[in-house]
Amino acid sequence: MNRRIMASMLSDRQIEDLIIKALEARETSYCPYSRFRVGSALRTIDGKIFQGCNIENAAYGGAICAERTAFAKAISDGHRRFVAIAVACDYNHFITPCGICRQFMNEFGKDLEIFFVNDDRSYRRAVLEDLLPYAFGPENGPLK
Ligand code: THU
Repeated sequence: MNRRIMASMLSDRQIEDLIIKALEARETSYCPYSRFRVGSALRTIDGKIFQGCNIENAAYGGAICAERTAFAKAISDGHRRFVAIAVACDYNHFITPCGICRQFMNEFGKDLEIFFVNDDRSYRRAVLEDLLPYAFGPENGPLK
């Protein structure tokens, strides 16, 4: 089922808050190689927000995206249930998560709402299951 038609679990105010925090999170981006700053803001089921930025590395493959940074911060602080993530870059552009991030986030719930944020705070919304159909997740692996 295509979930894009379903309404967000968040209020307009909560969406706006997440968007502002994703835009703000770009400020700490470490991206000397690509110069492509990305920020994210991840909302847990109990309303906490974790911000993340992309962190690059001289060995290019060692980079981590803003989305995974926010997840790593939240999970290492004991959170496992998430409702939404917003992601923003510096351009007039609706950035969407890379394939590695889609797989990484899928581990913690395919119902995650994702907001692609533009510089002017406008956004588009998707649900992870639509971005990663037929995903291989915890329900398919040895944990099932
Ligand atoms: N990047 C993210 O942080 N999130 C995305 O959704 C796409 C790409 C980062 C990785 C790298 O540091 C830079 O953007 C250029 O690809």
